[in-house]
Amino acid sequence: MADINRQWLINGNPRGRALSEDDFKYNEAALEPLVDGQVRVRTQYLSFDPSQKGQMENVSGYASGNEVGDVMGARGIGTVVESRADGIEEGFLVSGPLGWQEFSTHAGRTLEILEDDGFLTAHLGPLGGTGLTAYFGLLRIGRPEPGDTVVVSGAAGAVGSITGQIAKLMGCRAVGTAGGAEKCAWLVDELGYDAAIDYKNEKVKARLRETCPDGINVFFDNVGGPVLNDALAVIAPFARVVICGGISRYEQETLPPGPPNYFNIVFRQATMQGFLLIAYASEFATARKRLRGWIADGKIVYKEDVQEGFENIPATLLRLFSGANKGKQLLKL
Ligand SMILES: NC(=O)c1ccc[n+]([C@@H]2O[C@H](COP(=O)([O-])OP(=O)(O)OC[C@H]3O[C@@H](n4cnc5c(N)ncnc54)[C@H](OP(=O)(O)O)[C@@H]3O)[C@@H](O)[C@H]2O)c1
Repeated sequence: MADINRQWLINGNPRGRALSEDDFKYNEAALEPLVDGQVRVRTQYLSFDPSQKGQMENVSGYASGNEVGDVMGARGIGTVVESRADGIEEGFLVSGPLGWQEFSTHAGRTLEILEDDGFLTAHLGPLGGTGLTAYFGLLRIGRPEPGDTVVVSGAAGAVGSITGQIAKLMGCRAVGTAGGAEKCAWLVDELGYDAAIDYKNEKVKARLRETCPDGINVFFDNVGGPVLNDALAVIAPFARVVICGGISRYEQETLPPGPPNYFNIVFRQATMQGFLLIAYASEFATARKRLRGWIADGKIVYKEDVQEGFENIPATLLRLFSGANKGKQLLKL
């Protein structure tokens, strides 16, 4: 095993601006010998999530903070290459907070042991935080009823692509917004969305009125901004507006004022509620079992966008903010 660990450190706080590759700095660190209870993992796959930018900004309440000089935090999947912890052996596949580095050292209990079940990378996508966010956000906060119209923004992204498919499984109509004709075609042709709106090239409010003639019963929002405002104009009585994320604001210098159409929440007696996935941690195992069943039965399909190479890690995170990712963004080391 190598005795040098290649890493990417945080080199800037991107609050109020777009991320840049200069926000990360290459580093080499010596690998120290393990002590009792520790495990060393070689990273195989890294997961990329928009909240990693918030994590670098130390946004309270959203993601645990990282400081300049720290190894960039990230979830990943790896192989145990050395273990001094009970119950974890060399060769085990694990997932956990591996960070942007080739090797990571952990207290054994911080890692989740994965079965070699043919769903390896899905543990970072539909069976990981991505699928669980879609599941709990839609089912618990959105509370969809059969026949409801569910609109999902960022619908071709990792969370959004699963959300629409769960909505269909619940007997709902699903309408998604995404950037570009190719992503919109994927939503309808392969994921079973009933309609898709290209928010970059179409008039979103007019298209929402056309595709949701009885109004929106559940709006699952991943992007915020003008799309949220347009959806609020079209909500049905007693609609549930689920605030999952707001990627359109993650790079803005000054935060925009609230959406002008928010008062429809009063007129339509609707609710608008945010959530954090971590609140449902005690129920993850049950939800994963259900998600795994849907995937195994072909009722949920998913797409992975797998970049490659240690040197491409910073550029891969930037893909989320330009919309370059097609499905769940991963990188293979
Ligand atoms: N509440 C929670 O606990 C929780 C947990 C996990 C994730 N989240 C949130 O869920 C959302 C989706 O995350 P994800 O991992 O599934 O990422 P993702 O959707 O796979 O990737 C981000 C996508 O956002 C879209 N986007 C980027 N900039 C945009 C802009 N200015 N306006 C509109 N769309 C933009 C792009 O798609 P287009 O090409 O369509 O523009 C891009 O592909 C994020 O907001 C994230 O913060 C919340």
